[in-house]
Amino acid sequence: MRIDIITVLPELLKSPFEASILKRAIEKGLVEVHLHNLRDFSIGNYNQVDDYQFGGGAGMVLMIEPIEKCLSGLKKERDYDEIIYLTPDGETLNQSISNRLSLKGNLILLCGHYKGVDQRVRDKFITKEISIGDYVLSGGELAAAVLADSIIRLIPGVLNDETSALTDTFQDNMLAPPVYTRPSEYKGMQVPEVLLSGNFPKIEKWREDEALKRTKKRRPDLLK
Ligand code: ADE
Repeated sequence: MRIDIITVLPELLKSPFEASILKRAIEKGLVEVHLHNLRDFSIGNYNQVDDYQFGGGAGMVLMIEPIEKCLSGLKKERDYDEIIYLTPDGETLNQSISNRLSLKGNLILLCGHYKGVDQRVRDKFITKEISIGDYVLSGGELAAAVLADSIIRLIPGVLNDETSALTDTFQDNMLAPPVYTRPSEYKGMQVPEVLLSGNFPKIEKWREDEALKRTKKRRPDLLK
């Protein structure tokens, strides 16, 4: 998979891909992540990428021309499965969207900034609009990092234990059960006896019961 991210703040997007699972996925050649600074496609003498909105009102809007220049350069090199715009008024991200996107080959993520992008960019070039939740961030960069992380960890071979993404919270519309590690007793707090029993069918049953209990209590909406 290849993910190209277009942003006015590439420095904000470096570190998420330089540590832990995402770094290893890139090193193993399972995914390529390329950052593109929209300012490299700026227009005029002032490296302009944004302008005031027509009709008046506070806040700058990213202009169509630099975005089109950047996109057309990328699209000349290869085909893209989706061109995704991160925006709080997009479809709310969930595990099933990430599952589907993890099966794609090439993705472009466009990060909005200030008041967002010229609507004509959205009408003409964008194939999917995603929000990471009902709150407003200063820009799409952190949302792009969240989306990329949730996709990349699902690519086969990225997680060491292939089954571990399958037992994630949300994977079966169910929250994950509680987990424990050593010591089995800490300051009087005990690990549930069944987990120490070595009886794997019984452990599996306990995990299913606990997952269901937790889901009913915290996220009953998932069970509908
Ligand atoms: N840009 C600003 N807020 C956002 C959000 N909640 N999701 C995606 N992109 C955003």
